[in-house]
Amino acid sequence: MQKTILVTGGNRGIGLETCKQLAAMGHTVIMGSRNLEKGQEKAKAIDGNVIAKQLDVTSEASINALKAEIQAEFGKLDVLINNAGIMSEDNVSDVSIEEQKRVMETNVWAPMRMVQIFVPLLNNSDDPRIVNLSSQMGQRMNQTADHSAYRLSKFTLNGLTLQLANALPNIKVNAMHPGWVKTDMGGSSAPLSVEEGADTSVWLATADNIPSGKLFCCRELMEW
Ligand SMILES: NC(=O)c1ccc[n+]([C@@H]2O[C@H](COP(=O)([O-])OP(=O)(O)OC[C@H]3O[C@@H](n4cnc5c(N)ncnc54)[C@H](OP(=O)(O)O)[C@@H]3O)[C@@H](O)[C@H]2O)c1
Repeated sequence: MQKTILVTGGNRGIGLETCKQLAAMGHTVIMGSRNLEKGQEKAKAIDGNVIAKQLDVTSEASINALKAEIQAEFGKLDVLINNAGIMSEDNVSDVSIEEQKRVMETNVWAPMRMVQIFVPLLNNSDDPRIVNLSSQMGQRMNQTADHSAYRLSKFTLNGLTLQLANALPNIKVNAMHPGWVKTDMGGSSAPLSVEEGADTSVWLATADNIPSGKLFCCRELMEW
């Protein structure tokens, strides 16, 4: 079944590859891009139905504007992929609250706001899904002191995923770790390609018999 899928931060990295793979499968992909021109340039180069739309996930006005556009053009949303994210270089012993708030704004409050605003459109789908890009750095066993704001944000995103899965029984809500992937965030030493990194997002968005309220890596369940 052809789906309408929104990927936040779709203009580069894992998000861009996710848009490519979904488009190759015949889905309609809305590529959220903070900078619309950059997104349009990337979307044009993809074979398939990819439409770039302006989206800053930290701006409620930007999210509401996109929701109105999608409502008018499609009347529903089948899958929301909360992919946009930022890294932090810090240590819990001296990270400022401002830095923690900055990272939480993009990695936690933004996906929460996205879901709250898009639920009415997801509810118009026959098979609505939400995929949250988390990280193994959010796992309980990985709460070390370095990159502390990022770790805490993904730990919290995992909690948010569980809460949303409980609150939205009609929507499949899952989180996933893409692996350590060669992107601007992952760096050039990362062992995985973007093709490998996008695989589990695409699978959670499109495969049959997906559960809800789980954390995945490489299409396998992963410990929280
Ligand atoms: N790479 C890894 O090894 C790895 C591992 C575990 C988890 N992850 C997670 O996977 C996701 C994608 O990571 P990546 O490696 O592809 O990162 P990336 O290469 O740094 O790309 C990040 C994307 O997020 C977008 N973004 C950031 N803030 C935004 C905002 N306020 N509004 C809209 N878009 C925003 C960026 O847009 P701009 O171009 O406008 O900045 C960019 O498109 C992230 O959630 C990350 O935490 C990655």
